[in-house]
Amino acid sequence: MDVVGLARLRFAVTGSLHFLFVRRRCCSGIWHTATMTPAITSAITSAITAAAAGTWKLGDLTVNRMGFGAMRLTGSAAFDLGTPSDRERSIRVLRRAIELGVNHIDTAAFYFSSLRSANELINRALAPYPDDLVVATKVWAGRDPSGEWWWATPEQLRGQVEENLRQLGRDHLDVVNLRVPPSRRNGSIAEHFGALAELRAAGLIRHLGVSGVTPAQLAEAQAIAPVVCVQNRYGIDAGHDDDEFVRACGAQGVAFVPFFAIAGAGRERGATGAESEEILAVARAHGVTAAQVRLAWTLRLGPHVLAIPGTGNPDHLEQNVAAGALRLSADDVARIDSLRADLRGKG
Ligand SMILES: NC(=O)c1ccc[n+]([C@@H]2O[C@H](COP(=O)([O-])OP(=O)(O)OC[C@H]3O[C@@H](n4cnc5c(N)ncnc54)[C@H](OP(=O)(O)O)[C@@H]3O)[C@@H](O)[C@H]2O)c1
Repeated sequence: MDVVGLARLRFAVTGSLHFLFVRRRCCSGIWHTATMTPAITSAITSAITAAAAGTWKLGDLTVNRMGFGAMRLTGSAAFDLGTPSDRERSIRVLRRAIELGVNHIDTAAFYFSSLRSANELINRALAPYPDDLVVATKVWAGRDPSGEWWWATPEQLRGQVEENLRQLGRDHLDVVNLRVPPSRRNGSIAEHFGALAELRAAGLIRHLGVSGVTPAQLAEAQAIAPVVCVQNRYGIDAGHDDDEFVRACGAQGVAFVPFFAIAGAGRERGATGAESEEILAVARAHGVTAAQVRLAWTLRLGPHVLAIPGTGNPDHLEQNVAAGALRLSADDVARIDSLRADLRGKG
């Protein structure tokens, strides 16, 4: 058996990233024996694909649970909060993601910096698209060419859908999330969701999702048309507001797709690098990075939880995909739960 086969076998047996006798950690955060050559190291990392975390069905579309978020492709921070990215590097990241088995990419027409557009990069890097690639986008939120935010009326949603179709170069959108504005956190979304359901019926959209919603808003949308996913902020340090909602989505067969699972409090500006001792201890125990622990923690919440880590960094991409093979122990989870208990009541 070659070394890649050996690595796969040990994954199957141990269910952990501790699959080789550990000595040294490479850029992917995985430990390797001192005798391994870079070629072997790279072969083993590449052996871990996005399929390692399993699959889920968004309606009739099967995706690997480890996906990719496109918001970080446009700059060092989202929108115009950082410096625009290197175009070729972002294209490389996208193509590598596909090579690693990623077949679920989250994007939006409003993911752009002064020089880069996530949708344009996806089109440039990946068209003609692989048959199994599912691209999810979102509407209601928008940004004008100067970057100013605006929110669409129900009638304007068609224009936002068409904008995504043009930028991505597709004749339909696989999944469209209705991104609910924070100011509507408790209001009705029926008018907007109804407008989107009509676009679905017209064949412009295959499946619908909702984002930034409460359980009541999900139920309101479901009374209008099927909902395949909820995309809300969630992660180890996101507070407890959505704990029950995550479980309820699973019970209904609705995917829960958390964002800021790595960035946490850094939000749009990105990961701060500051990590609690509990997360670092779990990372050390497995010989992985804190970001990988954060991803593994979300994935273990249920088979309906899909990860969409965002990165413009090729090394981080490899690490994130590899995190789909990381299985946390009961002790790890208890340790992280103790950290989360401190957050209780902080919402
Ligand atoms: N529905 C919504 O309202 C909404 C809101 C926000 C985001 N989203 C979607 O959700 C996706 C995920 O959110 P996100 O991109 O903001 O946050 P994230 O995935 O939680 O974290 C991204 C941040 O972490 C860094 N990072 C990524 N992988 C890393 C690793 N292995 N090690 C260390 N740092 C790492 C990234 O920097 P580098 O680029 O340097 O790796 C970036 O700063 C977005 O890309 C977007 O598609 C949706």
